Amino acid sequence: MPVFTSSTRDIPDARDVPRHVAIIMDGNGRWAKQRLLPRVAGHRRGVEAVRTIVRTAVERGIGYLTLFAFSSENWRRPADEVSILMELFLRSLEVEVGKLHDNGIRLKVTGDTSRFDGRIRGLIESGETLTASNPRLTLTIAANYGGRWDIAQAAREYYRRHPEALADGAPLEPDALAPYLALAYAPEPDLFIRTGGEQRISNFLLWQLAYTELWFTDRLWPDFDAAALDEAISSYRKRERRYGRTSEQLATPATSP
Ligand code: IPE
Ligand code: IPE
Ligand code: MG
Repeated sequence: MPVFTSSTRDIPDARDVPRHVAIIMDGNGRWAKQRLLPRVAGHRRGVEAVRTIVRTAVERGIGYLTLFAFSSENWRRPADEVSILMELFLRSLEVEVGKLHDNGIRLKVTGDTSRFDGRIRGLIESGETLTASNPRLTLTIAANYGGRWDIAQAAREYYRRHPEALADGAPLEPDALAPYLALAYAPEPDLFIRTGGEQRISNFLLWQLAYTELWFTDRLWPDFDAAALDEAISSYRKRERRYGRTSEQLATPATSP
């Protein structure tokens, strides 16, 4: 497994196509409301948009795609909407895992899955095992994920593995946590996309987005298609990623540290 370093310590190499794209898929409810449909209709169309974007990501040569499907705060929604979302997640796992495998895609699910129904947990485990050595896209579904949960669980895991660090009171270096974060198997996202018009992070990848390029669009998730993804990628390509350096340093790479 490759070891990815932190963008606040080392400067990642720049590429035309983002290696890792992370998306907050927002706006399903409003999509349905605009059509006088129940919210569930928006969530169903949202699953179709996921299929389109996964296919497009493979075609564009993106290595890692991380999709926020259910946040740790989404339990606050009405119970009937939560159970519809769980049902959709369960059905999607049943229907899609085989297709992902046929297409060489590796599936990962990240978040506190302990709160999910046993059937969902079983499908996650078997899906991850089945697709574990697939070489193409790594598709991560963030479910019952929260950025603060992630940092806290990484710290807990670090101290569990290094009990001596607790005892001798040594300061905890940020990079020491990195291997224990939920997405340690992926480079940090190059491009973050949020659909649905809101310009906030909503407790998604707090640590990992330190140097990610951000792209917000008013387009609602069920309407997000290949052309919309291409638009985000083309904006990404025009960005100057300085990682703390000056523009002048980028123009003369030989003199930059
Ligand atoms: C995103 O769409 C899907 C989930 C959070 C599960 P929303 O359901 O938040 O849609 P809006 O924001 O109400 O339009
Ligand atoms: C963020 O969307 C979570 C997901 C897309 C899964 P929300 O619609 O729940 O975000 P907030 O609460 O409006 O910020
Ligand atoms: Mg929303």
